[in-house]
Order: sequence, then C-alpha cells, then structure tokens
Amino acid sequence: MQRILPIASGKGGVGKSVLTANLGLALARAGKTVVLVDLDLGASNLHTCLGLRNRHAGLGSFVWKAEKSLSGLLVETGFERLWLVPGDNLLPGTANLEWNSKRRILKELSKLPADFILLDLGAGSSYNVVDFFVAAPSGLLVLCPEVTSVLNAYSFLKTAAFRILHRSFPEGSEERAEVLAYAGTKTEGSGLSFLDFARGLAERRPERGGPALEALSRLLPRVVLNRGKSPEDAELGYRLRDISRKNLGLSLEFSGFLLEDPGVAKSVAARRPLLDLDASSPFARGVQALATRLAQAPEASPPLATEGPDGEAEAELAVAAAGQNEGEDELARLAAEAFA
Ligand SMILES: Nc1ncnc2c1ncn2[C@@H]1O[C@H](COP(=O)(O)OP(=O)(O)OP(=O)(O)O)[C@@H](O)[C@H]1O
Ligand SMILES: [Mg+2]
Repeated sequence: MQRILPIASGKGGVGKSVLTANLGLALARAGKTVVLVDLDLGASNLHTCLGLRNRHAGLGSFVWKAEKSLSGLLVETGFERLWLVPGDNLLPGTANLEWNSKRRILKELSKLPADFILLDLGAGSSYNVVDFFVAAPSGLLVLCPEVTSVLNAYSFLKTAAFRILHRSFPEGSEERAEVLAYAGTKTEGSGLSFLDFARGLAERRPERGGPALEALSRLLPRVVLNRGKSPEDAELGYRLRDISRKNLGLSLEFSGFLLEDPGVAKSVAARRPLLDLDASSPFARGVQALATRLAQAPEASPPLATEGPDGEAEAELAVAAAGQNEGEDELARLAAEAFA
C-alpha cells in the first residue's frame, strides 16, 4: 500500500533533507520502493544529499506544465529501489504555488508506483509547506533540542491545525469567515485557545463543524528529534506534546531520536548518504530504527485533500495509534535506545 510521508520542521536547517535521503535509503534497503520528492521549492538541494548533479528536470517543469506527469520526472539515484523527483532548480519561480498547482501535485503523487513517497518540505509555516504536510495524516516533524526549534515546530502545528479547520468549510462560507476573523484577532496568550475556538464553532454549527473537528483529530504528526546530545533532550519533545494537546487538541507520536553525529557533515561534504558511507554510525542506526518503525506502522495515508470513503478507516487507525502511545514515555525510551 502506498504511503505518503511529508517531512517538515518549522525551523530551517534541522536536518530534513539529510533525514529524507537517509530514511529513503533505509526503506529501499528494507525492500520498499521509495520515491523522494524535493518539495523545498525555491531552495531544492535533495539531489546533493544523494550525490546527483543538478541537471534533471523536476517539479518546476510539472508546475509550468512542460511535463505532464511526475512519473516522467523520476531520476535514478544509483541505489536500488530509490528514486528522486527533483525540485525546481532548472525552472524556478514556483516558491508560491496556487492551490490548484498543489492539488495537481498531490493527485500525481498518489499515482506514483512506490511503497513510500517521502516529501522533503521547505522550512517555515507557509501554506506551500503546510498544505503538503496535512495531505497525509502522519507526517514527520523534525526538531532539534533547542527552544527555538520547538517553538517553531509548535507554530507549524498551529498553522497546520488552522489550515485544516479553514479548508473544512466551503469557500465563501460564514464559518470560513469566522475562522479567518479568529486568526486575525488572536494574539498568543490572550482569550480563547485554538481548540476552544474550534469546539465552539462546532457546537454553534454542528453540521459542518462536526466533520471539521473530526478532520483535525485525524492529524497525528510523528515527531523526530534530531541532533540529540543527551537523553534529557527528550524533555523538549514532551513540552511540545503537552502544549499541542492543550492548545490545539493535537496528539503527537514520537517516532525517532537521532543523535548528533559528526559523520553527517562529512557525508554531506562527500555527497553520499551517511547510511551508505557508514551504516554503523550513530545517526545511521537511528535512521534505520525509524525506518523499521515506519515500515511496521499500521496506517496507510491517502491524502486528506482528496479523501474518499477510506478517510473514515484512516481516522480510526490514527486514533488507535494515538491511544497506543498514551501515557508511555516513548521518546525517553527511544533516547535510551539511541544512547545504549
Ligand atoms: N544528526 C546530526 N548530527 C550532526 N549534524 C547534523 C545532523 N543532522 C543535520 N546536521 C547538519 O545540519 C545541516 C543541515 O541539514 P539539512 O540540510 O538536512 O537541514 P534542512 O532541515 O533540510 O535545512 P533547510 O531547512 O535549509 O532545508 C547538515 O548539513 C548537517 O551538517
Ligand atoms: Mg532541506
């Protein structure tokens, strides 16, 4: 079953591209067919992490309609079962995508013949990034153990929740206007939390508000802590989980704890994934553990944006998966494993 896995972060430079390349390779080596898509439009560099030259047509060609399908853009990476759809290096100007272009890309992604489709997203919380993140129920959110990284990750989740609520109502509807008005007047720390607002809206307008809350509950981001230096770094992950639950009503799952590793910078300089250079390095071992978890995880991920009847089952699975993590010190366990 095909799974789309967006990889986002809020703050830039936390290791999304390095993780995408290595995780893709780990999954390919585990026998999965994997396509990596460089969706960091305007700053595409995933090809570099794989040692590929910047001479292939990519998403820019699809957005500007020079290429009709994403499968026509697949580039061999030199690794078995691992493919790349490059970004927009050769045809820039795609950094601000219309919703229609995003919809076209999402539709094409679901046609790619792969087990896993990893989306390397840009930094920040622009709709360009967030709309791809919420296209799957369980994208990866990468953090570093720094307060700024955690705060940006929270802002990212808040934008994602807002975007889901906004898009749950039709264009021109009163509910949409209310959501926009709330976002426009709300200042952090004052008045209604996002969750209270969403609940209130659902109560006042149950017909559309109920399904909107349900769409929100389907989002179950998977947190990956990168550049961990001590087991205590897990603490920041818990803070993010607590504040996201309290203010946004979102559950988070902890999926990976990756260690700070000088081998990563060396592998970037050598333009080879660290997993290929040194599979026994601390970072590569963490990525392998993450790949194993993901390959065993139960859920598939049809895009929410184009969901059909399968969306129901998806929601149930997401809720079930959230329940499994409830009350467990999952990230602490992952950290202990990483330092073992
Ligand atoms: N676990 C790690 N240990 C040591 N260094 C790391 C680790 N992870 C990432 N780095 C360093 O961080 C740099 C940035 O990583 P990367 O380009 O993957 O970040 P990014 O999140 O994709 O950035 P951007 O937001 O600009 O796209 C790497 O070149 C590497 O030097
Ligand atoms: Mg990047």
